[in-house]
Amino acid sequence: MQATWFITGASRGLGANIAEAALRAGDRVVATGRKREDVSARLGHDSEQLLSLALDVADPAQAQAAVGAALKKFGAIDVLVNNAGYGHLGFFEETTLQDVQAQFSTNLFGTFNVTWAALPVMRSARRGRIFNVSSLAGILGAELCSLYSASKFALEGFSESLAKEVAPFGLHVTIVEPGPFRTDFLKPESLRFGDKPIADYDERRGKLRASFEERNGQQPGDPLKLAQALVKLASEPEPPLRFIAGSIAVNAVDAKLAAMQAELKRWHATSVSTDGTY
Ligand SMILES: NC(=O)c1ccc[n+]([C@@H]2O[C@H](COP(=O)([O-])OP(=O)(O)OC[C@H]3O[C@@H](n4cnc5c(N)ncnc54)[C@H](OP(=O)(O)O)[C@@H]3O)[C@@H](O)[C@H]2O)c1
Repeated sequence: MQATWFITGASRGLGANIAEAALRAGDRVVATGRKREDVSARLGHDSEQLLSLALDVADPAQAQAAVGAALKKFGAIDVLVNNAGYGHLGFFEETTLQDVQAQFSTNLFGTFNVTWAALPVMRSARRGRIFNVSSLAGILGAELCSLYSASKFALEGFSESLAKEVAPFGLHVTIVEPGPFRTDFLKPESLRFGDKPIADYDERRGKLRASFEERNGQQPGDPLKLAQALVKLASEPEPPLRFIAGSIAVNAVDAKLAAMQAELKRWHATSVSTDGTY
């Protein structure tokens, strides 16, 4: 069956690769981005298979309008990909409420806005897939990543709960957790940095920022292969709740789970000692 995909952040990076992979598979794609012309420049003119739309995911009215336009052209949304996102890199103490609001507006509330808009039609259809693009940073906290990680951990909790809420309607939710992939993610035009430096953090900030700069363009993950994996998962009868992408992420998640198991075991007696004797 020819599926209809609705993808956010499809102007470049992973979102553009997913759109291209779905088009190559013969599916229909609603490709959205903050600037419609950037989406068209990357994916080509609209056709029987493709509709490009302007959508800043932080704007709930735009999300509603984009879903409306998608339904007008294709009549359904079978696969929703909440992909739009960026990383704010900074130590928590150096961030501001505005930084937090911006990070969450895109990475978390953006997903809420688009999901609120698309869910009614997907629920009515009683079938469909939702891919929420999280990150290894959605499982693992790291220095400079307090806001980014917080937004992705929140996305994980939301997605895991949503999966249970919509399963009775035949909808599957998959959380996508990539390690480092070679997109524009680490480029200065995608990353954001705070503007409130604190001298005590200068040395570590300098070293960590330099290490991110060095990693830009060297990430081992291939966005084309990740896109192909998602196209494959979209037609799996029982897709996973979590899809970890790339060896770095697989190894890091293995290590985190082992450490959690060890800590759980070590503190087991104290943990269960808090049970009441009512
Ligand atoms: N690449 C990695 O290593 C990696 C690892 C883990 C997770 N991820 C996640 O993968 C997703 C895609 O990132 P990427 O690697 O493809 O990065 P990217 O190359 O920088 O692309 C990011 C995309 O998100 C869009 N975007 C940002 N804010 C938006 C907003 N408010 N509304 C709509 N679109 C918005 C950008 O649009 P513009 O062109 O308009 O800026 C762009 O299309 C993100 O959620 C990211 O957190 C990436």
